[in-house]
Amino acid sequence: MAKIIAGVASSHVPAIGAAIDNKQTEEPYWQRVFSGFEKSKEWMEKTKPDVCIVIYNDHASAFSVEIVPTFALGCAEEFPPADEGWGPRPVPVVQGHPELASHIAQSVILDEFDLTICNKMEVDHGLTVPMNLLFGSPKAWPCPVIPLAVNVVLYPPPTAHRCYMLGKAIRRAVESYPEDLRVVIFGTGGMSHQISGPRAGLINSKFDKAFLDNLTKDPRKLTRITHLELMREAGAEGIEMVMWLVMRGALDDKGDEGYRFYTVPASNTAVGHIILEPKRRAAGKSKRVTASKAKRPMGSKPRRAAAFKSNLQSVRKGKR
Ligand SMILES: [Fe+2]
Repeated sequence: MAKIIAGVASSHVPAIGAAIDNKQTEEPYWQRVFSGFEKSKEWMEKTKPDVCIVIYNDHASAFSVEIVPTFALGCAEEFPPADEGWGPRPVPVVQGHPELASHIAQSVILDEFDLTICNKMEVDHGLTVPMNLLFGSPKAWPCPVIPLAVNVVLYPPPTAHRCYMLGKAIRRAVESYPEDLRVVIFGTGGMSHQISGPRAGLINSKFDKAFLDNLTKDPRKLTRITHLELMREAGAEGIEMVMWLVMRGALDDKGDEGYRFYTVPASNTAVGHIILEPKRRAAGKSKRVTASKAKRPMGSKPRRAAAFKSNLQSVRKGKR
């Protein structure tokens, strides 16, 4: 059975991608941002997911305003980087996982969430920047990726609650897939920012930090945030944070925060990042499995869960 082993939330600021592509990551301004993802990259290298599901939004790259799906699931074999106006980013083509993606489409749609199925789609910085932040800049991405694009650019975007419940439907889909796959789910976008109008440049760190706190401890509280409140407190583009709730919905409500990073500014936005693991499930399993656990061979599921937990603990303590 496939399993979602962790959730990652990360901003997807386009200027971060430009800093990587233009080799500016060591400049003091950008070093402050990238240093916050060093432990995350170490964690990801140890975690080695079989598949990632990346919740992001398309910025008029794959879809124009002529067609704007609310939820678009990438079921293709591969997803090339989009030309966002200055040529495609020099990042690897994203390899998909059509089998799991098709299974998710079937499960989630029959679960009454109407996804748009995309058998051909380019992906922009909304997906590729978080990939860089968690995987670095390899010649090929180390695992297949299933993109799920959420409309947050044209009114009306889905509600926070709808996104959270979609996450739960995705989890049900993943957990009904027969192959043993370890899946990490990303929620990307945000945090507070507004890129145009009289409030351009808005950053609200107090709101962002409370959002991060609740993302870990009380995600259901976040599902009650309205679009108006999000835009008032976090800026017009802060609405992207509803995408984090898709990721959060796919995890246990009592998740454990493995790592957090927050800094301002990056370009004209706040950068937020968090890693969550389903602690209760891992701990419960290790408690329930007692005598039989001792007989399990290395690499079996309970030991894998324990190893995953210790990975995060090491990251928290800065030992690796
Ligand atoms: Fe965005």
